[in-house]
Amino acid sequence: MNLKEQPAGLRTTIKNAIPLPLKKVLWKIKRLFVHPQYDPRTYWKERAMEAGQAKVLWGNEAYNLCYRKFQKELIGGFLPEIHGSFNVLDIGCGIGAVAKIVEQLHPQIYVDGIDFPEMIEIARKVNPSERIRYIATNAEEYSDADKTYDFIIASASLSAIRDLDKLRQTVKNCTGMLKPDGQLLMIEPFHRWKYLARARFSSGQMVALMDSLGFKLEAKSGALFWPYREWLANSERSAEYVEKKFAQGERLLSILGKHLWGDHKILFFTRKPVD
Ligand SMILES: C[S@@+](CC[C@H](N)C(=O)[O-])C[C@H]1O[C@@H](n2cnc3c(N)ncnc32)[C@H](O)[C@@H]1O
Repeated sequence: MNLKEQPAGLRTTIKNAIPLPLKKVLWKIKRLFVHPQYDPRTYWKERAMEAGQAKVLWGNEAYNLCYRKFQKELIGGFLPEIHGSFNVLDIGCGIGAVAKIVEQLHPQIYVDGIDFPEMIEIARKVNPSERIRYIATNAEEYSDADKTYDFIIASASLSAIRDLDKLRQTVKNCTGMLKPDGQLLMIEPFHRWKYLARARFSSGQMVALMDSLGFKLEAKSGALFWPYREWLANSERSAEYVEKKFAQGERLLSILGKHLWGDHKILFFTRKPVD
């Protein structure tokens, strides 16, 4: 018998013996102390096999739908008046849900969505459009001297880049392709606290990075009251229950402070005027 196999076998037996609710609690406790690192390609390739929007969001589809509805209103509110063709870059577009929301907001909008090949393959199937171009690439390597954008959107994608050098490189490349009067909207779970962090990067750090690249923060807000997001997003609660509680959570957020208590931080940037 291979001795090395024995502890692993024992570990698996113990793991299987732990009931699921206890496993979930233990996992949450672990998140207080450990910020796991993993290979992003492998992680997102595996996530791409999950059902529906769980590929890029959470396990409760009703919660995902509430969030998408919120996003549609939010993005619509930030887009400027559009005259003529309007080019948008969707960083880490996943299965194309945000690209599709954006494209549907105006017939003159053209979107480039970038992500890993596994996600792009799905996006092309589930959210196809003549006005969306899906590009399989690492975000930190995407830079095209011939391309300029009117609007850039990052929805939980910059925070998915846990290697902070790559995260900074992505922001630098993408802002470099923004037109002089272009705008950039981030809807991102930026946190330093291990429990909530994807990349350990705060919204303050992002504002400082953008400032160093010549951008000023025009608006700041937040969404998804984090204790409710934790409670509901991966729960098995019914759609009716989730919708009611989602609305309640967002009302609480308005009272307590959207940016402080929101799991997702909303940051909107424009270029600083050149003297
Ligand atoms: C939480 S999902 C969000 C997807 C999408 N923006 C949405 O809101 O539905 C994060 C996405 O970022 C992508 N991503 C993470 N790191 C990336 C990288 N280095 N280059 C390109 N895409 C990346 C993942 O593949 C995944 O699709």
